[in-house]
Amino acid sequence: MFIFKVFMVIYLLTLQILLANSYCTKSLVPALYVFGDSTVDAGNNNNLNTPAKVNIFPYGIDFNNCSTGRFSNGKTFADIIALKLGLPMPPPYMGVSTIKRYQIVSGINYASGSCGILNSTRYGECLSLNKQIEYFTSIVTNDLPRNFRSKAKLSHYLSKSIFLLSIGSNDYMLNYFKQEMVTNQKGNHEEFANYLLEQLGFNIKKIYDLGGRKFVIIAIGPIGCIPDFIDKNSRSKDCNEDMNQMVKPFSNKLPWKLRELTTQLSGSVFTILDSFKMFKKIKNSSEKFGLTNIWDSCVGEGGKPCDNRKQYFFYDSAHNTEATNEIYANMCFSGRHACFPLNIEQLVHTD
Ligand SMILES: *[C@@H]1O[C@H](CO)[C@@H](O)[C@H](O)[C@H]1NC(C)=O
Ligand SMILES: *[C@@H]1O[C@H](CO)[C@@H](O)[C@H](O)[C@H]1NC(C)=O
Ligand SMILES: *[C@@H]1O[C@H](CO)[C@@H](O)[C@H](O)[C@H]1NC(C)=O
Repeated sequence: MFIFKVFMVIYLLTLQILLANSYCTKSLVPALYVFGDSTVDAGNNNNLNTPAKVNIFPYGIDFNNCSTGRFSNGKTFADIIALKLGLPMPPPYMGVSTIKRYQIVSGINYASGSCGILNSTRYGECLSLNKQIEYFTSIVTNDLPRNFRSKAKLSHYLSKSIFLLSIGSNDYMLNYFKQEMVTNQKGNHEEFANYLLEQLGFNIKKIYDLGGRKFVIIAIGPIGCIPDFIDKNSRSKDCNEDMNQMVKPFSNKLPWKLRELTTQLSGSVFTILDSFKMFKKIKNSSEKFGLTNIWDSCVGEGGKPCDNRKQYFFYDSAHNTEATNEIYANMCFSGRHACFPLNIEQLVHTD
């Protein structure tokens, strides 16, 4: 009996190693690792002490009516990209038990609602970008090596994997805008954007130093266009352009910052999702994208979701519907208009 058990353990371990090394089975890349905020959180906040928690109805109504902690009716942008890559949706780090961590070789999601690039950005407990990368570092050092026979194999795996970052809006909404209201300081938008980009760069470099090479960065979008902030006084609804102008420097400078990183970090490749451009496109001809309402939250008073969720841009007052996430993911994956200089398919095929 004892021998049989030992044999089983060895057999299972071998199977694990074989599975880990046969990641070529069907997926386009070995793994998708996700960092960010509520735009891509898959449930990390569920067990944290925070009001920024959505594991309750009506969230997840189109996710088998299962409130997983995603800030949407269905899948996030990151979930859809994972499926397109032939991978499972990366599970939330906080939802995976310590002993099972090493078994997950197809990617983990560290994103946490209400957090940001800066440590000081938060609303209740959440995982700052710094913390997310700390957890990823621990996986790379302590867990992943168990699945690879050599350091070189692990390096190869990391260099072919995709690292998706969707973060920064909260550094404005929960940090900069609030400071601005208190101190009423104007004209520092450029400096704040530079500071954020510098911090983002430091964090990307940490992922690079661990072995990451292929990055997808979701730029901060037009925050002044979310239902919470739009200009409702005018007869027809429109974006709050004052607010957009405060955020714009970040998006404008991001490509420049990433070009700088490309030259500093040999072998790194970046692709950017231009959220400003995408929103403008959709706003200009929403019907073409199948959307009929781009200004209102689908979830209305009393938490009742709208019936035509496929036609709404926003699910709540700040987050996209699955329909919107699908549009973005489809266009970024294979189109030429959302992500640049490469779409994700092209990113997959870079060496
Ligand atoms: C989804 O779940 C909620 C809360 O558990 C429930 O009230 C609702 O009826 C369910 N909706 C569907 C379509 O199953
Ligand atoms: C953020 O916090 C971490 C850990 O506490 C620290 O190492 C890092 O320097 C901090 N970053 C900034 C910009 O303060
Ligand atoms: C806006 O929509 C019109 C009509 O659909 C189209 O001709 C035009 O090119 C669009 N403009 C932008 C900036 O997408």
